[in-house]
Amino acid sequence: MGISKLTTDKVKERMDIAEVVGDYVPLKKKGQNLWACCPFHGEKTPSFSLSPAKQIYKCFGCGKAGDPIQFIMDIEGVGFQEAIRHLAGKYGIEVEEDQDRTPEQDQAQNERESLFIALGFARDFFVKNLQSDEGRSIGLSYFKERGFTPSIIEKFDLGYALDGWDNMLKAAKSAGFQEDILLKAGLVLQKEGDPSRIYDRFRNRVIFTIHNISGKPIGFGARILTKDKNQPKYINSPETPVYHKSDVLYGMFQAKKAIRDKDNCFLVEGYTDVVSMHLSGIENVVASSGTSLTDGQIKLIKRFTNQVTVLYDGDSAGIKASLRGIDLLLEGGLNVKAVVFPDGEDPDSYSRKVGSEAFQAYLAANSRDFIGFKIGLYQEEYAKDPIRKAEVIREVVLSIGKIPDPIIRSVYAKEASNLLEIEEEIIHAELNKSILKTQKDFYNKQKQEIEAEEAIQEILPTEIETSFEEILRIQEREMVRILVNYGTQKLSEQEISLSSYLLSETEDLEFSTPVYARLLKLYRYALVKGLIPTVEYFIGLGDQEIQKEVIDLVTMRHEVSVHWADKHQIIINKESDDLSLTGYKTILRLKRKMVQKMMEEAKLKLKNAELEKLPDQQIIGFQELYFELKKVQLEIDRELGIVIG
Ligand code: UTP
Ligand code: MN
Repeated sequence: MGISKLTTDKVKERMDIAEVVGDYVPLKKKGQNLWACCPFHGEKTPSFSLSPAKQIYKCFGCGKAGDPIQFIMDIEGVGFQEAIRHLAGKYGIEVEEDQDRTPEQDQAQNERESLFIALGFARDFFVKNLQSDEGRSIGLSYFKERGFTPSIIEKFDLGYALDGWDNMLKAAKSAGFQEDILLKAGLVLQKEGDPSRIYDRFRNRVIFTIHNISGKPIGFGARILTKDKNQPKYINSPETPVYHKSDVLYGMFQAKKAIRDKDNCFLVEGYTDVVSMHLSGIENVVASSGTSLTDGQIKLIKRFTNQVTVLYDGDSAGIKASLRGIDLLLEGGLNVKAVVFPDGEDPDSYSRKVGSEAFQAYLAANSRDFIGFKIGLYQEEYAKDPIRKAEVIREVVLSIGKIPDPIIRSVYAKEASNLLEIEEEIIHAELNKSILKTQKDFYNKQKQEIEAEEAIQEILPTEIETSFEEILRIQEREMVRILVNYGTQKLSEQEISLSSYLLSETEDLEFSTPVYARLLKLYRYALVKGLIPTVEYFIGLGDQEIQKEVIDLVTMRHEVSVHWADKHQIIINKESDDLSLTGYKTILRLKRKMVQKMMEEAKLKLKNAELEKLPDQQIIGFQELYFELKKVQLEIDRELGIVIG
């Protein structure tokens, strides 16, 4: 399905980088740009920047960069077309299909898109059936009994699966869906022993729709309404190409804004807990759906907040079984709190029992930091049996050891020492042991982050040895940077643009860095074709390397490099400088570096010639070349001396 160029253009006109990225991560303004913790790699300090002026994003950590469309492609894992659809949906732009498409292109719908469409159809079907006679008398009355309001039912796409083997199958088929897509979407099953016969997965149950982060249905959880012990309480969608369970948290779509606003995420067990908490006015809540947390789910939470409050049913056996999973949160660098409900209550039952005000007050009054909470759990045990105390210490220390931040770790060590009534040194000794043991793991996990942070420093290498090639590369980069950022501007006195000047001056120069050479060539090509080589132009070429490089060039934190650049006599221009002077200086510096490179080469040849005792003529030839180059360099130096003053 091709989207018309008109629709794509409309989306491009309307889209805004801050609005698009802001749906996924909280943004903070700092200077001209907005900053966030990168949604693509785990990190604690923001190195992900947005430029509203240039409408691009760039992570100085992992290097991901692009325009709003690229962002959607990366974060949703979709292709260009689907990203346009997504953005069109966000901005209420009607999607117009390309009229010239062939029937083959019609057929060649990408599978993910078909799955989304089938799942959307299923959602509509379940939602509609909740209002049927059967749905009302069985499903809706159940929801009403639980206190679910019509608006909450709508908000969560709650529905009903009719009793019968093929209600969904029939409806989907007559709507034109292929069986294989319904199978892949997890909506129907093949009969055991006779795969040619298929039937509805969800039957005679109420439906909880599971959404992805942008609100598209990706799966369903279906709760039984009878007390039939032979049937599972819930039937859930299987893993599919669009539903990766380990990366999904139930309720995240409905919660993400509140999580960001409240800077906290409540974590509960089940679908009904999430819905009930919304009814109680608490919207920053997601469910792990009965399984233990995964790294992917923790990453998902970290896009929105660093604070998680885990809500536990009041049954300590169950709590202890799930503690290990919570260590993962600590390990992920999250700040973890816990609330336990009175015996036999879960968030759903308790909120219904006491009402929303008392429920909110309960949460506020009973939330404890995780370490204190864990110690509390074991206190009873070791009060009775002192020998168990050593075990408890180890258990608690294990959790503390997971915390990546040493300062927070020592705060908890102190707290543990107080609560457990043992000396802090003992805690620290245990802690060191446990940290040492897990250090390797920890190191590997952090390695990526450290490497990413080092990448930021790339512009400011600390090592004294910087190769000449590197210096030349940076001077080339500076020339291309000026070209890309300011090329289209007119020089003050002359009638020509900066780009004409720079391009004519570099016509005969050979760039040693391939990507800059290529960029220069593309720039020339665009001008020849009568196009204006703006940043958007380069991004629009769809060339990953060029796209990344151009974004680097327009987002470079060049201010950090001034000191280092001085040392190596690299000119990094101040943006406030006069444009024609900037252009002139940049060219002079570039030529100077290139001449120096040629001198180095001449020197090397001379040395080799002497070593190999080549004929005098040749040796003299190299000497002459060297001095010629030296003369050029001095000339450039003189000129630079004048312009720099
Ligand atoms: P619960 O049994 O607490 O279910 O399981 P619930 O959603 O809170 O429903 P109520 O309160 O009994 O109506 C918690 C979660 O575990 C998963 C579901 O995600 C459920 O929401 N679960 C539970 C299953 O996937 N299958 C099951 O058979 C049971
Ligand atoms: Mn429950």
